[in-house]
Amino acid sequence: MRRFLMCAAAMAVVWGMAIGHAQMKVTNLEEHDKAMKALGGAFGGANKAVAAGSMADVKTALATLKSTLMAVEGFWAANKKTAQVDFAKAAIAKVDVADKAASGTDTAAVGAAVKDIITACGACHTATREPDPATPKSFIVKAGIL
Ligand code: HEC
Repeated sequence: MRRFLMCAAAMAVVWGMAIGHAQMKVTNLEEHDKAMKALGGAFGGANKAVAAGSMADVKTALATLKSTLMAVEGFWAANKKTAQVDFAKAAIAKVDVADKAASGTDTAAVGAAVKDIITACGACHTATREPDPATPKSFIVKAGIL
């Protein structure tokens, strides 16, 4: 058993190195906020790339969305908030759908799939965030959730 655990730990290290640059960690609220700003930027980037018809750029933006959402999912999992973990998973699933579409040639379908991602973002926002009373146009985690 001990041997198995050590082996699993070693594999986790190798895996961590393998995903390297795509790796991002969200362990506190400051990092969570940075991750959200990154998601906002990447979502905007994906839409611009759709408008420009560049599927390669769409895929790059989607990869950022996916790795960032995975880090966000990890934050909520560490805090044992299953509803938010599920919201993050649902958003990742929509990113995967868009990524699959971006491998094809139907740009209208790609555009629709990219737009559809934001509904999953919005579902978590409705349940989990509220305006920051201290900073206009900024948001915080709803009181009582964490
Ligand atoms: C698991 C829940 C969850 C998911 C999924 C989620 N968000 Fe958020 N988001 C939040 C919470 C909570 C806040 C407020 C706290 C913060 O900013 O960290 C927030 C805040 C934001 C903000 C405002 C940041 C600021 O300036 O205060 C943006 C922009 C944002 N999210 C974009 C996105 C986008 C785009 C997606 C989907 C690709 C997404 N979010 C998915 C929970 C989520």
